[in-house]
Amino acid sequence: MDLFEKITSLAKRRGFVYPGSEIYGGFAGTWDYGPLGVELKRNIKNEFWKNMVTMRENIVGLDAAIVMHPRVWEASGHVESFADPLVECKKCHKRFRADQVGEKCGECGGEFTGAKQFNLLMETAVGVVEGSKQKTYLRGEITQGVHVNFKNVVDSTRVKIPFGIAQVGKAFRNEITPGQFTFRSREFEQMEVQFYVPRDDQKSMEWFEYWKEERKSWYESLGMRKENLRFKDHEALAHYARAACDIEYNVGDDWKEMEGIHHRGDWDLRRHQEFSKQDLTYFDDATKENYLPYVIETSGGVDRATLFFLMDAYHEEEVKEGEMRTVLKLHPKLAPYKAAVFPLLANKPELTECAQKIYKELQKSFMVTWDDRGNIGKRYRAQDEIGTPYCVTVDFDSLEKGDVTVRDRDTMQQERVKISELENYLHKKIAL
Ligand code: GAP
Repeated sequence: MDLFEKITSLAKRRGFVYPGSEIYGGFAGTWDYGPLGVELKRNIKNEFWKNMVTMRENIVGLDAAIVMHPRVWEASGHVESFADPLVECKKCHKRFRADQVGEKCGECGGEFTGAKQFNLLMETAVGVVEGSKQKTYLRGEITQGVHVNFKNVVDSTRVKIPFGIAQVGKAFRNEITPGQFTFRSREFEQMEVQFYVPRDDQKSMEWFEYWKEERKSWYESLGMRKENLRFKDHEALAHYARAACDIEYNVGDDWKEMEGIHHRGDWDLRRHQEFSKQDLTYFDDATKENYLPYVIETSGGVDRATLFFLMDAYHEEEVKEGEMRTVLKLHPKLAPYKAAVFPLLANKPELTECAQKIYKELQKSFMVTWDDRGNIGKRYRAQDEIGTPYCVTVDFDSLEKGDVTVRDRDTMQQERVKISELENYLHKKIAL
């Protein structure tokens, strides 16, 4: 089994990710996040927000509508750019206009899918009267909701260029060949910052470099191994881009795109200004000039980050001779549960009572879980497999001495910690 298969199977078995609409035979390119997946994904989004918005003075947040005016997608170039007959390489997934390719993919020699005249944007219809509904699209990227609000944000807050607007949310694409678990889905989430900078080629390229480094270090700060990350410059640029680079993740036999850093020039604001006939220029107090700023974009896939954090954390280890364990060494900040609480024995009410008290107390500060089935060894294995960094066991000594055993997921070391100190102890360890 390769790592993709192992992760897909673990994700289903332990409640991280299920195939979408499974009882109806599935629905290609859609996935449902289960009780553990929703925690992991939310932790990733929260860490993104904390790093990009909460801890920075020059980035503010936004949450725009998914369904927007259809003109937005004409202005953005999506309607035009995706309206050609396309083929997609079955191997490297690069898309080409059918009339511009030979029999095999020029990039990797793979076979093509049949040519299709289709739009990558998902169509939808809005309105209540059949026949006069307005056709529009589910957003193909979360980006445009930010650019159409550029003026609103400038006018209603105190931001000054350089500044950014962050957004996290769903995007939809009619991918020709969805696949590789959640890697290429038709409904997925993006986490982005559109960072507006002066119209200056050199300065804007400095910001581009800055954001490349910032974003790569963010993944590393949450435990992704350095050797599994690299930059890959785009050779062919998208219609809007002046420079583009991907942060790629090493999936073993291949490198895969996880996040894109793009220099979008003034493409978006210029096009929206043209199509909406509104003045979207920015007035610079210092230079007394009106101009359309350039934009550096960081655009990450939340589902891809979730998948690659899982892959990076996945380990199979020999615990002692002949005994293996599967362990997700997720950063504690990302782990679905920060701790699991057990009574040593399930049939001793005094242990259960004490452990329940601790469990309820910890719930106020952390996502924690409870387990009193089977023996301790089995419980440890079950928690290792879902990445719980600490297991707290209440035994008979706990009742007398007021302390518990805390077992560390990665080192498997155990130490006694005072019940009164437990919350502090976990806070420090997890560094929330
Ligand atoms: N606003 C720019 C933009 O959307 P993109 O390279 O098309 O750029 C950015 O997408 C990120 O969104 C990708 O790096 C990837 O992580 C994620 N993404 C794109 N298409 C996806 C899909 N079909 N399934 C899952 N994630 C996807």
